[in-house]
Amino acid sequence: MENKFRIGIAGCGGMGSGHAIALKSGTGDTVYNGNVADAKMPDSAMTTRIGDMMELSGVTDIDQSRRDWAREQGIFVYEDYAAMLSDESVDAVLIATPNHLHKSMAMEALRAGKHILCEKPVMMCSADLAEVMKEAEAAGRVFYPRQNREWDEDYLIIRKIYQENLLGRTFEIRCRIMGARGIPGDWRSRRECGGGMMYDWGVHVIDRTVKMIPERLRRIYCDLKYITNRECDDNVFIHFTFESGLTVRLEVDTCHFIRLPLWNLYADHGTAEIDSWNCDGRMVRLSSWEDKDTVPVMAGSGLSKTMAPRGRETLKELPLPRFDFDRNALYRNFVETCLGTAQQTVTADHALRVLRIMETCFRSAREGRVIEFE
Ligand SMILES: NC(=O)c1ccc[n+]([C@@H]2O[C@H](COP(=O)([O-])OP(=O)(O)OC[C@H]3O[C@@H](n4cnc5c(N)ncnc54)[C@H](O)[C@@H]3O)[C@@H](O)[C@H]2O)c1
Repeated sequence: MENKFRIGIAGCGGMGSGHAIALKSGTGDTVYNGNVADAKMPDSAMTTRIGDMMELSGVTDIDQSRRDWAREQGIFVYEDYAAMLSDESVDAVLIATPNHLHKSMAMEALRAGKHILCEKPVMMCSADLAEVMKEAEAAGRVFYPRQNREWDEDYLIIRKIYQENLLGRTFEIRCRIMGARGIPGDWRSRRECGGGMMYDWGVHVIDRTVKMIPERLRRIYCDLKYITNRECDDNVFIHFTFESGLTVRLEVDTCHFIRLPLWNLYADHGTAEIDSWNCDGRMVRLSSWEDKDTVPVMAGSGLSKTMAPRGRETLKELPLPRFDFDRNALYRNFVETCLGTAQQTVTADHALRVLRIMETCFRSAREGRVIEFE
């Protein structure tokens, strides 16, 4: 590609600086000077060298220390956002500022004729996103939600087991994102900035759940807790019931000091478990429901027949399927969508549905009840 697609980054904090390093290096690798713990991504021959198709024009940030950091890395720094938008060589902006700023910055960028890659949660509510989508359509520009977690290997494993019925018919999936540090003491703990765990991780777990399961989402129940502060939710529990009866439980927690598995999948002929993001885990497959007579076992201080363990001869332990994939698939798809050479993988319409689900979760938590959704 001769003229590379040029992108500017607005907000050069935790995420924006990761993008800046990824784009400057041209590899997608977000690590500089060991800034991220345990950051080694598996090498993959499938991963696009994004430097071949796009380049970083520069960054902007209102914080002087972030601008200084960028200059130290040899990254061009725009005086302010307006200066970035008025640079005609810039094709797109990547919005990586706190959540409450995404809408106004997206509207400005569209009016300046830029495509947009917008960090999640793209907006604070679905009405705002609908407005931005209308503006993008009028401007003939792409609005691309950076809901990036459909490329996580743990998710790809669960999706394969579910979609290919590897353990029979799935009847429940559970996903738990478990932290132990409360909410960071920055804008994430302020309600007016879009703080709280529903906006932070809830969006990810909802996004990929509804993308994986192509069914109407019938019922939503949500419970939000405020353990470490009074202002923003720090523990999220969501229960979805889909049209077929399949249920999904999603948890995002910040006060759990003993971690439970990241995923469980329960099907009528087996169970799968993924321990953590390194994808250690296993599947246990049932060969036959037929079983010899059971004898009761001691369960606590009483006897139980129903909870007697199953005979080993009807169970088989299997390794989890593993995946190789393009770690830069989202960047690549964004550029190709803007150039008109690919279909948009993460669409604004999908993000709109996710925001409507999040709003219904907030309502369920407020009213303390199950809400009929689709
Ligand atoms: N997709 C993901 O996996 C992922 C991961 C982390 C964060 N995020 C998202 O990225 C966004 C930023 O999060 P973060 O963790 O980087 O926050 P952060 O606080 O580390 O960084 C935000 C930066 O924006 C700057 N900023 C604030 N107002 C600005 C303005 N008007 N113009 C320019 N810069 C401004 C701040 O000075 C700060 O440096 C959030 O929307 C967050 O949800 C996404």
